[in-house]
Amino acid sequence: MSEQTPADDTGDRRSSSWIGEGGKNGFITRHHMRQMGLSGRQFDGRPVIGIANTWSELTPCNTHLRGLADAVRRGVQQAGGLALEFPVMSLGEPFMRPTSMLYRNMMAMELEELVRANPMDAVVVLTGCDKTTPAALMGVASVDLPAILLTGGPMLNGRFRGRAVGSGTDVWRMAEGLRAGEVTQTEFTEFESCLNRSAGHCMTMGTASSMACLAEVLGMQLPYGAALPAVDSRRMVLAEDTGLRAVELAKEGLRPSHVLTRDSFENALIANAAIGGSTNAVIHLLAIAGRAGVQLDLDDIDRIGRDVPLLVDLMPSGRYLMEEFAYAGGIPGLITRLGDRLHLDAPTISGLSLGDSMSDGRVDDDVVIRQWDNPVQPAGSGTAVLRGNISPDGAVIKISAASPELLRHEGPAIVFDSIEDYHLVVNDDDLDVTEDTVVVVRNAGPRGYPGMPEIGNLAIPKKLLDRGVRDIVRISDARMSGTAYGTCILHVAPESAVGGPLALIRTGDIVRLDVENRRLEMLVSDEEIAARRAQWVAPPPASGRGWTRLYIEHVQQADRGADLDFLIGGSGDRPGRIPF
Ligand code: FES
Repeated sequence: MSEQTPADDTGDRRSSSWIGEGGKNGFITRHHMRQMGLSGRQFDGRPVIGIANTWSELTPCNTHLRGLADAVRRGVQQAGGLALEFPVMSLGEPFMRPTSMLYRNMMAMELEELVRANPMDAVVVLTGCDKTTPAALMGVASVDLPAILLTGGPMLNGRFRGRAVGSGTDVWRMAEGLRAGEVTQTEFTEFESCLNRSAGHCMTMGTASSMACLAEVLGMQLPYGAALPAVDSRRMVLAEDTGLRAVELAKEGLRPSHVLTRDSFENALIANAAIGGSTNAVIHLLAIAGRAGVQLDLDDIDRIGRDVPLLVDLMPSGRYLMEEFAYAGGIPGLITRLGDRLHLDAPTISGLSLGDSMSDGRVDDDVVIRQWDNPVQPAGSGTAVLRGNISPDGAVIKISAASPELLRHEGPAIVFDSIEDYHLVVNDDDLDVTEDTVVVVRNAGPRGYPGMPEIGNLAIPKKLLDRGVRDIVRISDARMSGTAYGTCILHVAPESAVGGPLALIRTGDIVRLDVENRRLEMLVSDEEIAARRAQWVAPPPASGRGWTRLYIEHVQQADRGADLDFLIGGSGDRPGRIPF
Protein backbone atom coordinates (compact mmCIF):
# COMPACT_ATOMS: atom_id res chain seq x y z
CA MET A 1 0.00 0.00 0.00
CA SER A 2 1.12 3.49 -0.74
CA GLU A 3 2.08 5.59 2.22
CA GLN A 4 1.73 8.83 0.26
CA THR A 5 -2.04 9.48 0.66
CA PRO A 6 -2.16 13.19 1.44
CA ALA A 7 -4.51 14.76 3.94
CA ASP A 8 -7.06 17.06 2.34
CA ASP A 9 -5.28 20.06 3.77
CA THR A 10 -1.54 20.24 4.32
CA GLY A 11 -1.30 23.77 5.68
CA ASP A 12 1.30 24.63 8.28
CA ARG A 13 0.64 22.54 11.31
CA ARG A 14 2.01 22.77 14.80
CA SER A 15 2.44 18.98 14.79
CA SER A 16 4.57 19.23 11.64
CA SER A 17 7.32 20.88 13.65
CA TRP A 18 7.69 17.47 15.31
CA ILE A 19 6.57 14.97 12.66
CA GLY A 20 7.59 16.74 9.48
CA GLU A 21 11.02 17.77 10.60
CA GLY A 22 14.05 16.42 8.78
CA GLY A 23 17.08 14.81 10.32
CA LYS A 24 17.30 13.08 13.63
CA ASN A 25 14.50 14.96 15.43
CA GLY A 26 11.81 14.15 12.86
CA PHE A 27 13.09 10.59 12.63
CA ILE A 28 12.69 10.12 16.38
CA THR A 29 9.10 11.37 16.32
CA ARG A 30 8.14 9.28 13.29
CA HIS A 31 9.73 6.03 14.33
CA HIS A 32 7.94 6.24 17.66
CA MET A 33 4.67 6.82 15.79
CA ARG A 34 5.43 3.64 13.87
CA GLN A 35 6.12 1.94 17.20
CA MET A 36 2.36 2.29 17.90
CA GLY A 37 1.60 0.45 14.65
CA LEU A 38 0.71 3.58 12.70
CA SER A 39 1.54 3.63 9.02
CA GLY A 40 3.06 6.72 7.45
CA ARG A 41 -0.39 7.50 6.01
CA GLN A 42 -1.51 8.36 9.53
CA PHE A 43 1.04 11.13 9.99
CA ASP A 44 1.37 12.56 6.53
CA GLY A 45 0.67 16.13 7.55
CA ARG A 46 -2.93 15.58 8.57
CA PRO A 47 -4.11 17.33 11.77
CA VAL A 48 -3.17 15.57 14.98
CA ILE A 49 -5.95 15.74 17.54
CA GLY A 50 -5.26 15.00 21.18
CA ILE A 51 -8.04 13.36 23.17
CA ALA A 52 -7.41 14.27 26.80
CA ASN A 53 -9.28 11.72 28.86
CA THR A 54 -10.15 12.05 32.54
CA TRP A 55 -11.27 8.42 32.63
CA SER A 56 -10.40 6.82 35.95
CA GLU A 57 -11.80 4.18 38.26
CA LEU A 58 -11.02 6.68 41.00
CA THR A 59 -13.61 8.96 39.36
CA PRO A 60 -16.77 6.84 39.10
CA CYS A 61 -18.63 9.63 37.24
CA ASN A 62 -16.08 9.38 34.39
CA THR A 63 -15.73 5.62 33.91
CA HIS A 64 -17.69 5.67 30.63
CA LEU A 65 -15.31 8.13 28.99
CA ARG A 66 -13.26 5.39 27.29
CA GLY A 67 -16.24 4.55 25.11
CA LEU A 68 -16.82 8.21 24.44
CA ALA A 69 -13.15 8.62 23.45
CA ASP A 70 -13.59 5.86 20.85
CA ALA A 71 -16.49 7.78 19.34
CA VAL A 72 -14.43 10.99 19.29
CA ARG A 73 -11.68 9.05 17.51
CA ARG A 74 -14.18 7.92 14.85
CA GLY A 75 -15.07 11.52 14.18
CA VAL A 76 -11.43 12.57 13.97
CA GLN A 77 -10.73 9.81 11.45
CA GLN A 78 -13.80 10.63 9.36
CA ALA A 79 -12.52 14.19 9.05
CA GLY A 80 -9.05 13.06 8.01
CA GLY A 81 -7.22 13.62 11.28
CA LEU A 82 -5.08 11.44 13.51
CA ALA A 83 -6.36 10.98 17.07
CA LEU A 84 -3.91 10.43 19.93
CA GLU A 85 -5.60 9.76 23.27
CA PHE A 86 -3.82 10.56 26.50
CA PRO A 87 -4.68 10.44 30.20
CA VAL A 88 -5.09 13.56 32.27
CA MET A 89 -5.24 13.73 36.01
CA SER A 90 -8.79 12.86 37.03
CA LEU A 91 -10.51 14.44 40.02
CA GLY A 92 -13.05 12.16 41.66
CA GLU A 93 -15.35 14.18 43.86
CA PRO A 94 -16.51 11.37 46.13
CA PHE A 95 -13.11 9.87 46.90
CA MET A 96 -10.47 12.62 47.01
CA ARG A 97 -9.39 13.92 50.38
CA PRO A 98 -9.21 16.48 51.81
CA THR A 99 -11.12 17.80 48.79
CA SER A 100 -10.89 17.58 45.01
CA MET A 101 -10.77 21.39 44.94
CA LEU A 102 -7.21 21.20 46.28
CA TYR A 103 -6.27 19.61 42.95
CA ARG A 104 -8.36 21.58 40.42
CA ASN A 105 -5.47 23.93 39.66
CA MET A 106 -3.09 20.97 39.44
CA MET A 107 -5.19 19.26 36.77
CA ALA A 108 -5.49 22.55 34.88
CA MET A 109 -1.73 22.99 35.00
CA GLU A 110 -1.09 19.39 33.94
CA LEU A 111 -3.47 19.65 30.97
CA GLU A 112 -1.92 22.95 29.90
CA GLU A 113 1.59 21.55 30.00
CA LEU A 114 0.71 18.25 28.29
CA VAL A 115 -0.98 20.01 25.40
CA ARG A 116 1.84 22.50 25.06
CA ALA A 117 4.57 19.86 25.22
CA ASN A 118 3.19 17.44 22.64
CA PRO A 119 2.61 17.34 18.88
CA MET A 120 -1.05 18.17 18.59
CA ASP A 121 -2.95 20.73 16.54
CA ALA A 122 -6.15 20.65 18.58
CA VAL A 123 -7.40 18.88 21.66
CA VAL A 124 -10.71 17.36 22.75
CA VAL A 125 -11.05 17.20 26.51
CA LEU A 126 -13.42 14.65 28.04
CA THR A 127 -14.68 15.64 31.48
CA GLY A 128 -17.57 14.97 33.81
CA CYS A 129 -17.15 14.96 37.58
CA ASP A 130 -17.27 18.34 39.33
CA LYS A 131 -13.76 19.74 39.07
CA THR A 132 -12.74 18.13 35.81
CA THR A 133 -14.77 20.55 33.68
CA PRO A 134 -13.52 23.83 35.20
CA ALA A 135 -9.97 22.46 35.33
CA ALA A 136 -10.19 21.61 31.62
CA LEU A 137 -11.51 25.06 30.74
CA MET A 138 -8.74 26.68 32.77
CA GLY A 139 -6.06 24.52 31.15
CA VAL A 140 -7.16 25.04 27.55
CA ALA A 141 -7.64 28.78 28.16
CA SER A 142 -4.05 28.99 29.35
CA VAL A 143 -2.41 27.08 26.51
CA ASP A 144 -4.80 28.60 23.96
CA LEU A 145 -4.48 26.00 21.25
CA PRO A 146 -7.68 24.96 19.41
CA ALA A 147 -9.71 23.03 21.95
CA ILE A 148 -13.20 21.67 22.47
CA LEU A 149 -14.79 20.07 25.51
CA LEU A 150 -17.17 17.17 25.75
CA THR A 151 -18.68 16.62 29.17
CA GLY A 152 -19.70 13.06 29.96
CA GLY A 153 -23.37 13.77 30.67
CA PRO A 154 -25.48 13.21 33.76
CA MET A 155 -26.49 9.82 35.08
CA LEU A 156 -30.10 8.69 34.78
CA ASN A 157 -32.56 9.76 37.46
CA GLY A 158 -32.29 7.89 40.72
CA ARG A 159 -35.43 5.92 41.64
CA PHE A 160 -36.30 5.02 45.22
CA ARG A 161 -39.60 3.49 46.30
CA GLY A 162 -41.54 4.96 43.42
CA ARG A 163 -40.06 8.43 43.30
CA ALA A 164 -37.20 10.15 41.54
CA VAL A 165 -34.26 10.93 43.78
CA GLY A 166 -31.39 13.28 43.06
CA SER A 167 -27.66 13.17 43.65
CA GLY A 168 -26.59 14.90 46.81
CA THR A 169 -29.86 16.70 47.43
CA ASP A 170 -31.70 13.55 48.50
CA VAL A 171 -28.61 12.26 50.28
CA TRP A 172 -28.64 15.32 52.53
CA ARG A 173 -32.42 14.93 53.05
CA MET A 174 -32.20 11.23 53.85
CA ALA A 175 -29.17 11.65 56.11
CA GLU A 176 -30.91 14.35 58.12
CA GLY A 177 -34.05 12.20 58.21
CA LEU A 178 -31.94 9.37 59.62
CA ARG A 179 -30.47 11.64 62.30
CA ALA A 180 -33.96 12.90 63.16
CA GLY A 181 -35.35 9.34 63.36
CA GLU A 182 -37.69 9.86 60.38
CA VAL A 183 -35.78 7.45 58.10
CA THR A 184 -34.84 3.91 59.16
CA GLN A 185 -31.39 2.40 58.65
CA THR A 186 -33.02 -0.21 56.37
CA GLU A 187 -34.45 2.51 54.14
CA PHE A 188 -31.16 4.36 54.13
CA THR A 189 -29.26 1.22 53.05
CA GLU A 190 -31.77 0.46 50.29
CA PHE A 191 -31.54 4.05 49.11
CA GLU A 192 -27.77 3.59 48.65
CA SER A 193 -28.40 1.21 45.75
CA CYS A 194 -31.11 3.27 44.09
CA LEU A 195 -29.43 6.61 43.58
CA ASN A 196 -26.66 6.13 41.03
CA ARG A 197 -28.21 3.87 38.40
CA SER A 198 -25.94 4.51 35.45
CA ALA A 199 -22.71 6.03 34.25
CA GLY A 200 -22.47 9.79 34.36
CA HIS A 201 -22.09 12.70 36.73
CA CYS A 202 -24.51 13.87 39.41
CA MET A 203 -27.89 14.56 37.83
CA THR A 204 -29.13 17.38 40.04
CA MET A 205 -28.14 20.93 39.08
CA GLY A 206 -25.01 20.51 41.19
CA THR A 207 -21.56 21.65 40.24
CA ALA A 208 -20.96 19.05 37.52
CA SER A 209 -24.25 19.81 35.74
CA SER A 210 -23.81 23.55 36.26
CA MET A 211 -20.32 23.54 34.78
CA ALA A 212 -21.42 21.33 31.88
CA CYS A 213 -24.23 23.78 31.12
CA LEU A 214 -21.89 26.75 31.41
CA ALA A 215 -19.28 25.12 29.16
CA GLU A 216 -22.02 24.91 26.53
CA VAL A 217 -23.19 28.50 27.08
CA LEU A 218 -19.59 29.73 27.06
CA GLY A 219 -19.38 28.14 23.63
CA MET A 220 -16.72 25.59 24.49
CA GLN A 221 -18.77 22.45 23.81
CA LEU A 222 -21.26 21.62 21.08
CA PRO A 223 -25.01 22.17 21.58
CA TYR A 224 -26.79 19.51 23.70
CA GLY A 225 -23.47 18.43 25.24
CA ALA A 226 -24.46 19.36 28.78
CA ALA A 227 -27.75 17.63 29.37
CA LEU A 228 -28.03 14.46 27.26
CA PRO A 229 -27.80 11.54 29.69
CA ALA A 230 -24.42 9.83 29.79
CA VAL A 231 -25.93 6.61 28.45
CA ASP A 232 -28.05 8.18 25.72
CA SER A 233 -26.83 6.92 22.34
CA ARG A 234 -27.06 10.47 21.00
CA ARG A 235 -24.11 11.34 23.23
CA MET A 236 -21.96 8.94 21.23
CA VAL A 237 -23.04 10.73 18.04
CA LEU A 238 -22.19 14.03 19.72
CA ALA A 239 -18.75 12.62 20.57
CA GLU A 240 -18.25 11.72 16.93
CA ASP A 241 -19.32 15.24 15.92
CA THR A 242 -16.90 16.66 18.49
CA GLY A 243 -13.99 14.71 16.99
CA LEU A 244 -14.95 15.86 13.53
CA ARG A 245 -15.20 19.45 14.68
CA ALA A 246 -11.79 19.25 16.37
CA VAL A 247 -10.17 18.54 12.99
CA GLU A 248 -11.89 21.59 11.53
CA LEU A 249 -10.70 23.65 14.50
CA ALA A 250 -7.14 22.57 13.83
CA LYS A 251 -7.46 23.80 10.26
CA GLU A 252 -9.29 27.02 11.13
CA GLY A 253 -7.10 27.90 14.10
CA LEU A 254 -10.12 28.90 16.21
CA ARG A 255 -8.82 29.12 19.78
CA PRO A 256 -10.33 29.43 23.27
CA SER A 257 -9.25 33.09 23.36
CA HIS A 258 -11.61 33.73 20.42
CA VAL A 259 -14.52 32.18 22.33
CA LEU A 260 -13.88 33.02 25.99
CA THR A 261 -14.71 36.71 25.86
CA ARG A 262 -16.36 39.10 28.27
CA ASP A 263 -19.64 38.55 26.38
CA SER A 264 -19.45 34.79 26.77
CA PHE A 265 -18.86 35.12 30.52
CA GLU A 266 -21.82 37.47 30.82
CA ASN A 267 -23.90 34.85 28.98
CA ALA A 268 -22.69 32.24 31.47
CA LEU A 269 -23.70 34.39 34.44
CA ILE A 270 -27.20 34.95 33.02
CA ALA A 271 -27.57 31.22 32.33
CA ASN A 272 -26.26 30.31 35.77
CA ALA A 273 -29.03 32.37 37.36
CA ALA A 274 -31.65 30.80 35.07
CA ILE A 275 -30.58 27.23 35.83
CA GLY A 276 -30.13 27.77 39.59
CA GLY A 277 -26.47 26.89 39.17
CA SER A 278 -24.05 25.93 41.86
CA THR A 279 -22.27 28.48 44.04
CA ASN A 280 -19.10 26.64 43.01
CA ALA A 281 -19.69 27.93 39.48
CA VAL A 282 -18.91 31.41 40.81
CA ILE A 283 -15.41 30.39 41.87
CA HIS A 284 -14.80 28.40 38.70
CA LEU A 285 -15.98 31.17 36.36
CA LEU A 286 -13.72 33.67 38.14
CA ALA A 287 -10.79 31.28 37.73
CA ILE A 288 -11.51 30.53 34.05
CA ALA A 289 -11.91 34.24 33.30
CA GLY A 290 -8.59 34.87 35.04
CA ARG A 291 -6.90 32.32 32.76
CA ALA A 292 -8.56 33.84 29.69
CA GLY A 293 -7.51 37.35 30.66
CA VAL A 294 -11.14 38.49 30.92
CA GLN A 295 -12.02 41.02 33.61
CA LEU A 296 -14.70 39.51 35.87
CA ASP A 297 -15.38 40.04 39.57
CA LEU A 298 -17.91 39.28 42.28
CA ASP A 299 -19.84 42.49 41.61
CA ASP A 300 -20.39 41.31 38.02
CA ILE A 301 -21.70 38.03 39.37
CA ASP A 302 -24.24 39.71 41.64
CA ARG A 303 -25.27 42.41 39.13
CA ILE A 304 -25.52 40.40 35.91
CA GLY A 305 -27.57 37.56 37.35
CA ARG A 306 -29.83 39.73 39.47
CA ASP A 307 -32.54 40.43 36.90
CA VAL A 308 -32.82 36.81 35.82
CA PRO A 309 -35.52 34.53 37.31
CA LEU A 310 -34.96 30.85 38.01
CA LEU A 311 -36.40 29.20 34.88
CA VAL A 312 -35.17 25.63 35.17
CA ASP A 313 -37.03 23.56 37.75
CA LEU A 314 -34.25 21.25 38.90
CA MET A 315 -33.06 20.11 42.32
CA PRO A 316 -31.73 21.43 44.61
CA SER A 317 -33.72 24.64 43.98
CA GLY A 318 -36.61 22.88 42.23
CA ARG A 319 -38.14 19.46 41.60
CA TYR A 320 -36.71 17.72 38.55
CA LEU A 321 -33.42 16.26 37.33
CA MET A 322 -31.10 16.53 34.33
CA GLU A 323 -32.95 13.80 32.42
CA GLU A 324 -36.09 15.97 32.38
CA PHE A 325 -33.98 19.00 31.46
CA ALA A 326 -32.54 17.13 28.47
CA TYR A 327 -35.96 15.99 27.27
CA ALA A 328 -37.34 19.51 27.77
CA GLY A 329 -34.75 20.95 25.40
CA GLY A 330 -31.54 21.29 27.40
CA ILE A 331 -29.34 24.34 26.95
CA PRO A 332 -30.50 25.07 23.37
CA GLY A 333 -34.06 25.20 24.71
CA LEU A 334 -33.04 27.50 27.53
CA ILE A 335 -31.19 29.76 25.08
CA THR A 336 -34.43 30.24 23.15
CA ARG A 337 -36.11 31.24 26.43
CA LEU A 338 -33.37 33.70 27.33
CA GLY A 339 -33.28 35.08 23.78
CA ASP A 340 -31.69 38.45 23.26
CA ARG A 341 -31.06 38.91 26.95
CA LEU A 342 -27.92 37.01 25.96
CA HIS A 343 -25.13 38.12 23.66
CA LEU A 344 -26.35 35.83 20.88
CA ASP A 345 -23.55 36.99 18.60
CA ALA A 346 -20.89 35.59 20.93
CA PRO A 347 -18.62 33.21 18.98
CA THR A 348 -18.59 29.52 19.87
CA ILE A 349 -16.28 26.64 19.16
CA SER A 350 -18.83 25.37 16.62
CA GLY A 351 -17.71 28.18 14.32
CA LEU A 352 -21.16 29.77 14.58
CA SER A 353 -22.41 32.43 16.92
CA LEU A 354 -24.19 31.25 20.06
CA GLY A 355 -27.54 32.18 18.57
CA ASP A 356 -26.92 30.45 15.25
CA SER A 357 -25.42 27.33 16.85
CA MET A 358 -28.59 26.90 18.95
CA SER A 359 -31.03 27.94 16.24
CA ASP A 360 -32.81 24.56 16.28
CA GLY A 361 -33.37 24.82 20.03
CA ARG A 362 -36.91 24.58 21.36
CA VAL A 363 -38.64 23.92 24.67
CA ASP A 364 -40.76 20.77 24.76
CA ASP A 365 -41.78 21.01 28.41
CA ASP A 366 -42.75 24.36 29.92
CA VAL A 367 -42.95 22.82 33.37
CA VAL A 368 -39.22 22.04 33.43
CA ILE A 369 -37.99 25.05 31.43
CA ARG A 370 -40.38 27.79 32.43
CA GLN A 371 -41.63 30.80 30.59
CA TRP A 372 -40.03 34.09 31.63
CA ASP A 373 -43.33 35.25 33.24
CA ASN A 374 -43.91 31.96 35.08
CA PRO A 375 -40.58 31.24 36.74
CA VAL A 376 -39.76 28.72 39.44
CA GLN A 377 -38.55 31.64 41.53
CA PRO A 378 -38.58 35.35 40.69
CA ALA A 379 -35.61 37.39 39.50
CA GLY A 380 -32.94 37.84 42.11
CA SER A 381 -33.05 34.30 43.46
CA GLY A 382 -29.61 33.32 42.16
CA THR A 383 -26.26 33.84 43.81
CA ALA A 384 -25.97 37.03 45.85
CA VAL A 385 -22.72 38.60 47.01
CA LEU A 386 -22.68 39.84 50.60
CA ARG A 387 -20.27 42.38 52.04
CA GLY A 388 -19.76 43.91 55.45
CA ASN A 389 -17.40 43.66 58.39
CA ILE A 390 -17.42 39.83 58.23
CA SER A 391 -16.75 39.61 54.50
CA PRO A 392 -15.13 42.82 53.21
CA ASP A 393 -14.04 41.08 50.01
CA GLY A 394 -17.34 39.26 49.60
CA ALA A 395 -19.23 36.10 50.50
CA VAL A 396 -21.93 34.32 48.53
CA ILE A 397 -25.35 32.86 49.24
CA LYS A 398 -27.57 30.91 46.87
CA ILE A 399 -30.93 32.53 47.48
CA SER A 400 -32.99 29.89 45.70
CA ALA A 401 -31.59 27.21 48.03
CA ALA A 402 -32.14 29.25 51.22
CA SER A 403 -35.19 29.69 53.46
CA PRO A 404 -36.98 32.96 52.57
CA GLU A 405 -37.69 33.77 56.22
CA LEU A 406 -33.97 33.65 57.07
CA LEU A 407 -32.77 36.00 54.34
CA ARG A 408 -33.19 38.84 56.82
CA HIS A 409 -31.99 37.64 60.19
CA GLU A 410 -30.28 38.67 63.41
CA GLY A 411 -28.99 36.15 65.90
CA PRO A 412 -26.12 35.20 68.20
CA ALA A 413 -23.10 33.44 66.75
CA ILE A 414 -21.76 30.14 67.97
CA VAL A 415 -18.23 29.88 66.61
CA PHE A 416 -16.03 26.87 65.87
CA ASP A 417 -12.37 26.95 64.85
CA SER A 418 -12.73 23.91 62.61
CA ILE A 419 -15.36 21.65 61.09
CA GLU A 420 -13.96 18.84 63.21
CA ASP A 421 -14.67 20.86 66.40
CA TYR A 422 -18.26 21.36 65.22
CA HIS A 423 -18.76 17.69 64.46
CA LEU A 424 -17.71 16.82 68.02
CA VAL A 425 -20.73 18.63 69.48
CA VAL A 426 -23.35 18.78 66.73
CA ASN A 427 -25.32 15.92 68.25
CA ASP A 428 -25.11 17.13 71.86
CA ASP A 429 -28.49 17.74 73.45
CA ASP A 430 -27.07 20.50 75.64
CA LEU A 431 -25.47 22.48 72.77
CA ASP A 432 -26.38 26.14 73.38
CA VAL A 433 -28.35 26.79 70.19
CA THR A 434 -31.80 27.95 69.16
CA GLU A 435 -33.35 28.45 65.74
CA ASP A 436 -31.98 32.02 65.87
CA THR A 437 -28.37 30.88 66.33
CA VAL A 438 -25.89 31.57 63.55
CA VAL A 439 -23.36 28.74 63.29
CA VAL A 440 -19.90 29.93 62.23
CA VAL A 441 -17.10 27.58 61.17
CA ARG A 442 -13.73 29.01 60.18
CA ASN A 443 -10.37 27.78 58.90
CA ALA A 444 -12.03 26.00 55.98
CA GLY A 445 -10.93 28.37 53.20
CA PRO A 446 -8.46 27.87 50.34
CA ARG A 447 -5.34 28.13 52.54
CA GLY A 448 -6.77 27.24 55.89
CA TYR A 449 -8.06 23.75 55.28
CA PRO A 450 -6.36 23.68 52.66
CA GLY A 451 -8.40 23.46 49.43
CA MET A 452 -11.70 24.96 50.60
CA PRO A 453 -13.80 21.82 51.15
CA GLU A 454 -17.54 21.48 50.61
CA ILE A 455 -18.56 21.62 54.26
CA GLY A 456 -20.44 24.92 54.16
CA ASN A 457 -23.89 23.30 54.40
CA LEU A 458 -23.09 22.62 58.05
CA ALA A 459 -25.25 19.95 59.63
CA ILE A 460 -28.18 21.23 61.67
CA PRO A 461 -27.59 20.58 65.42
CA LYS A 462 -29.52 17.47 66.44
CA LYS A 463 -31.20 19.36 69.25
CA LEU A 464 -32.84 21.59 66.63
CA LEU A 465 -33.58 18.73 64.23
CA ASP A 466 -35.52 17.04 67.04
CA ARG A 467 -37.62 20.19 67.35
CA GLY A 468 -38.40 20.12 63.63
CA VAL A 469 -35.98 22.89 62.65
CA ARG A 470 -34.61 22.18 59.17
CA ASP A 471 -32.65 25.35 58.42
CA ILE A 472 -30.62 27.95 60.29
CA VAL A 473 -28.13 30.58 59.17
CA ARG A 474 -24.65 29.14 58.70
CA ILE A 475 -21.45 31.01 57.80
CA SER A 476 -18.05 29.71 56.72
CA ASP A 477 -15.10 30.37 54.45
CA ALA A 478 -15.77 26.94 52.90
CA ARG A 479 -17.76 25.96 49.80
CA MET A 480 -20.82 23.75 49.68
CA SER A 481 -21.85 21.08 47.26
CA GLY A 482 -23.86 22.39 44.37
CA THR A 483 -26.44 19.75 45.24
CA ALA A 484 -26.94 21.14 48.75
CA TYR A 485 -29.46 23.62 50.11
CA GLY A 486 -29.96 25.81 53.15
CA THR A 487 -29.28 29.36 54.31
CA CYS A 488 -25.54 28.92 54.00
CA ILE A 489 -23.19 31.87 53.57
CA LEU A 490 -20.07 30.65 51.84
CA HIS A 491 -16.69 31.69 50.42
CA VAL A 492 -16.16 34.41 53.06
CA ALA A 493 -13.19 36.47 51.90
CA PRO A 494 -10.62 37.05 53.07
CA GLU A 495 -10.66 33.67 54.81
CA SER A 496 -9.92 33.38 58.50
CA ALA A 497 -6.55 31.66 58.03
CA VAL A 498 -5.12 34.81 56.44
CA GLY A 499 -6.62 37.09 59.08
CA GLY A 500 -10.02 37.84 57.56
CA PRO A 501 -12.61 39.15 60.04
CA LEU A 502 -14.11 35.66 60.30
CA ALA A 503 -11.06 34.95 62.50
CA LEU A 504 -12.20 37.65 64.93
CA ILE A 505 -15.88 36.86 65.45
CA ARG A 506 -16.70 35.32 68.86
CA THR A 507 -19.48 33.21 70.28
CA GLY A 508 -22.25 35.49 71.46
CA ASP A 509 -21.59 38.27 68.92
CA ILE A 510 -24.79 39.24 67.14
CA VAL A 511 -24.72 38.61 63.40
CA ARG A 512 -26.96 40.56 61.05
CA LEU A 513 -27.80 39.14 57.62
CA ASP A 514 -29.66 41.30 55.11
CA VAL A 515 -29.59 39.60 51.73
CA GLU A 516 -31.76 42.17 49.97
CA ASN A 517 -29.23 44.88 50.83
CA ARG A 518 -26.31 42.46 50.37
CA ARG A 519 -25.00 42.94 53.92
CA LEU A 520 -23.34 40.55 56.36
CA GLU A 521 -22.15 42.06 59.63
CA MET A 522 -21.25 41.32 63.22
CA LEU A 523 -22.64 44.01 65.51
CA VAL A 524 -19.26 44.66 67.07
CA SER A 525 -17.61 48.09 67.17
CA ASP A 526 -14.64 48.90 64.96
CA GLU A 527 -12.55 49.51 68.10
CA GLU A 528 -13.36 46.06 69.48
CA ILE A 529 -12.59 44.43 66.13
CA ALA A 530 -9.25 46.30 66.05
CA ALA A 531 -8.45 45.13 69.59
CA ARG A 532 -9.23 41.52 68.65
CA ARG A 533 -7.08 41.84 65.54
CA ALA A 534 -4.13 43.03 67.63
CA GLN A 535 -4.38 39.79 69.62
CA TRP A 536 -4.89 37.48 66.64
CA VAL A 537 -2.22 34.90 65.94
CA ALA A 538 -2.12 33.25 62.51
CA PRO A 539 -2.61 29.48 62.64
CA PRO A 540 0.33 27.38 61.44
CA PRO A 541 0.16 26.32 57.75
CA ALA A 542 -1.84 23.14 57.24
CA SER A 543 0.91 21.14 55.54
CA GLY A 544 4.48 21.60 54.50
CA ARG A 545 5.39 19.56 51.42
CA GLY A 546 4.80 18.95 47.73
CA TRP A 547 1.79 20.20 45.86
CA THR A 548 -0.01 21.23 49.03
CA ARG A 549 2.87 23.49 50.00
CA LEU A 550 2.91 25.10 46.56
CA TYR A 551 -0.85 25.51 46.76
CA ILE A 552 -0.85 27.15 50.19
CA GLU A 553 1.92 29.53 49.20
CA HIS A 554 0.24 30.67 45.99
CA VAL A 555 -3.53 30.16 46.16
CA GLN A 556 -5.62 33.28 45.88
CA GLN A 557 -8.75 34.00 47.84
CA ALA A 558 -12.22 32.82 46.81
CA ASP A 559 -13.19 36.21 45.38
CA ARG A 560 -10.37 35.75 42.81
CA GLY A 561 -11.35 32.17 41.93
CA ALA A 562 -8.88 30.37 44.22
CA ASP A 563 -6.41 29.95 41.38
CA LEU A 564 -2.65 30.01 41.89
CA ASP A 565 -1.26 33.51 41.45
CA PHE A 566 1.36 32.45 38.90
CA LEU A 567 -1.18 30.72 36.64
CA ILE A 568 -3.44 33.70 36.05
CA GLY A 569 -3.41 35.15 32.55
CA GLY A 570 -3.04 33.03 29.46
CA SER A 571 0.47 32.38 28.18
CA GLY A 572 -0.47 30.71 24.90
CA ASP A 573 1.56 28.20 22.96
CA ARG A 574 5.27 28.60 23.67
CA PRO A 575 7.19 26.23 21.39
CA GLY A 576 10.41 26.62 23.35
CA ARG A 577 13.66 24.87 22.52
CA ILE A 578 13.75 21.42 20.96
CA PRO A 579 15.75 19.30 23.41
CA PHE A 580 17.69 17.16 20.93
FE1 FES B 1 -19.00 13.19 40.40
FE2 FES B 1 -21.07 14.39 41.74
S1 FES B 1 -19.67 12.86 42.45
S2 FES B 1 -20.33 14.75 39.75
